[in-house]
Amino acid sequence: MGLTAAAAVPSVGFATDAQATTRTKTSTDSVLVFDPSAYTELTTSITDTEGTAHDVTYHFYKVTSYVAAPVDATYQGLNVSVPVSVDGTAVDATGAPILLANNVGGYMPSSVAGATGIGGGGGAGGPGGPGGPGGPGGSGPNRTMLALLAGYVVVEPGARGRTLVDANGVYYGCAPAAVVDLKAAVRYVKFNRGRIPGNVDRIVSAGTSAGGALSALLGASGDSPLYAAELAALGAADASDAVFASGDWCPITDLEHADASYEWCWGTNPLADGTTVDATVSADLRAEFTDYFASLRLSAPGFGRLTDRNLDAYLVRTHLEPSATAYLTALSDADRDTYLAANTFITWDGTNATFSWADFLTHVGARKKGAPSFDAFDLSTPECNEFGTGTTAARHFTLYSLRHEEGASARLDSDIPGKLARMNPMYHLVQRVNPNRTRHWWIRLGTKDSDTSLTVAANLAARLKNLGDDVDITYYWDAGHGADNDPGDFITWIAQVTGHPLAHRR
Ligand code: DHB
Repeated sequence: MGLTAAAAVPSVGFATDAQATTRTKTSTDSVLVFDPSAYTELTTSITDTEGTAHDVTYHFYKVTSYVAAPVDATYQGLNVSVPVSVDGTAVDATGAPILLANNVGGYMPSSVAGATGIGGGGGAGGPGGPGGPGGPGGSGPNRTMLALLAGYVVVEPGARGRTLVDANGVYYGCAPAAVVDLKAAVRYVKFNRGRIPGNVDRIVSAGTSAGGALSALLGASGDSPLYAAELAALGAADASDAVFASGDWCPITDLEHADASYEWCWGTNPLADGTTVDATVSADLRAEFTDYFASLRLSAPGFGRLTDRNLDAYLVRTHLEPSATAYLTALSDADRDTYLAANTFITWDGTNATFSWADFLTHVGARKKGAPSFDAFDLSTPECNEFGTGTTAARHFTLYSLRHEEGASARLDSDIPGKLARMNPMYHLVQRVNPNRTRHWWIRLGTKDSDTSLTVAANLAARLKNLGDDVDITYYWDAGHGADNDPGDFITWIAQVTGHPLAHRR
């Protein structure tokens, strides 16, 4: 008897732990239950890509926090917009794709807490913020509004960012906070399957620049165990964080290789004031790129193995000449003649544009950033702040810059490699090929965007193609940072990859 009672103690104890776990989970999950009846009905005018305005009525939901234990709910909430009619005709969004449109720019915090309707959120000054290219509130049609017009559900999450600092001086939005938050938002949506309108198995992530990097990361890192501790600490919903498709405009990513990539691409271009960067630094970084690029073991049709010796020809043939060709083809004869007269480096045979890499670089002109571009020696860049920690605002995250400042035996802080992996989509596509990544990718970049190397988006696309994924990549000719020149095509692409018909012609 006594023995039985004694034996029962650990058993009871175990059962109690299990019950406690269950209780915690139940209460965590219950605060994360989406209430389908808690909406405001709003009507907005959305102009389609042909210039026609439409009245779109939608249900607007505000979710105070998508995690049970928010660090700062101002940045960890999300808004949901569900179309119910377009020009008086009912729309049923029950099975529609869900556009997960982040507003992150500059790796800054972004909040939707104050928004009173779709597109009202904003990053703190980045390109996804109000009025910025690709972001809600711009003058032309933008993808967020076009998605609602098309009959899709739009989810706009906030996310912590690098400048957030608490009363004790602790930085609480540095890497990997933003991606952890966006993953938690995905989990919230998937956890609410059947309650939240739309098809939670057809989440399409979208973002621009730093937001494009995070969108690519969501696409590449779905359900990776690397984020488990941070997600658990936030009380993220118990659900998958894999997305169905990823739209990435000018992604500022592959940060630990961005300095080397930049010098390979823009190393010979002058700065805006006409001066040139330190030739030794540029050459050192460019030399690093050779090994890095070889390690990717990329190949491409017509080129075989890509190396830093055929990469220029590859970029020209694969991305840049087709970009110029599309641009010139769309011009009137008179405008094309004018453009070609002003840009004699382009040979136009009546159908196709051709030019050399060297002439293309001259055409782009001034590089936007110094050297190193991302891990600046003086720690002044957004990315050094992104790798801040505790009360330290900014840190080096490459050995090159660290050792330049602190000597040849300096070592990166021990948490940096893990944070780099959690921030880099390439890690999840090269070092650890993630079977739960999305297979559908939309990648866009302006040819005059020198916020990062032109190789960054190209390498992402080449790697994805080598893995067999479905990749739609286009470079926008002569476009600068943050451009979204074909938002309507993105909406059509979503219909194609998800198999969901457009509710409304764009
Ligand atoms: C952004 C731009 C940058 O040049 C950069 O280094 C990081 C982010 C942006 O626009 O989001």
